[in-house]
Amino acid sequence: MSDRLAATASLAMIANVLLFPYAARGQPAADLSLSSLAATCAGCHGTAGRAVRGGAIPSLAGMPRETFIADMLGFRDGTRPATIMQQLAKGFDEARIEALAGYFAARGAEPPGRPANTAR
Ligand code: HEC
Repeated sequence: MSDRLAATASLAMIANVLLFPYAARGQPAADLSLSSLAATCAGCHGTAGRAVRGGAIPSLAGMPRETFIADMLGFRDGTRPATIMQQLAKGFDEARIEALAGYFAARGAEPPGRPANTAR
């Protein structure tokens, strides 16, 4: 029995040593997963949340955090009528909605430098 206990303890120690570097690198992994999550919105809302000007789908880039959060919660609980977003918003918990709100609020409504559509 004590052999088994010792074996379990050593396994736990080995797992700690092996897994520690991943735990220590948690922050970049979180950033990466946030940008991947935001990229799932790009198909409709444009790259980095900058929608095509004059299109039917609104931009997310530069949206104030509070507005973004209120919109997403409204879609999720059905108080804000929508065609698509009610379904999509159901997949997001508050933590993810807040993280995405910060991501899009930090992006300018226009890309840095000259806007791509007005070149020449
Ligand atoms: C399939 C297309 C599609 C995708 C993908 C999509 N959206 Fe939307 N989004 C829409 C449409 C269309 C609207 C307008 C409301 C409606 O009819 O659903 C909208 C509206 C919004 C609004 C309200 C903006 C405003 O100014 O009124 C927010 C916030 C939003 N989407 C967030 C997101 C986020 C975050 C993602 C990615 C996780 C996402 N959307 C992915 C189509 C999409």
